[in-house]
Amino acid sequence: MTVDELVAEARSARDRAHAPYSEFRVGAAVEAGGHVYAGANVENASYGLAICAERNAVMAAVLAGERKLDACAVVTDATPPAAPCGMCLQTLREFSGDPRTLRVTLANLAGDVRSYTLAELLPHGFAPEDLK
Ligand code: THU
Repeated sequence: MTVDELVAEARSARDRAHAPYSEFRVGAAVEAGGHVYAGANVENASYGLAICAERNAVMAAVLAGERKLDACAVVTDATPPAAPCGMCLQTLREFSGDPRTLRVTLANLAGDVRSYTLAELLPHGFAPEDLK
């Protein structure tokens, strides 16, 4: 799976976002175990219940049995492309392995693409190893 293909999956998921309140649609795709798992943000009339695209994608991967993410892409219509929120970065960290090796690609509808590692976006994240 190329980065472009993963971004395309995230963009497609974004089309299925349920974001009637913020009108800020987000799509995410994670690659794990040779498969792609997509998610979009799903909002609720009780606003605080909104769930981010990235966490929905990670939950789909985990429920399919994956525990190690190999790549992540996020698509919004923001310029510059928006990064995942803190909760989503922490969720990615749980399944990243070494955060310096998990590439997180941010893209927007204009075709701007920015590439980071999870360690760049979350330099001092709390990790499962910290509990030991
Ligand atoms: N949102 C995401 O899906 N991912 C993020 O990382 C940040 C925010 C969603 C939540 C809400 O539905 C909308 O964007 C506006 O905050």
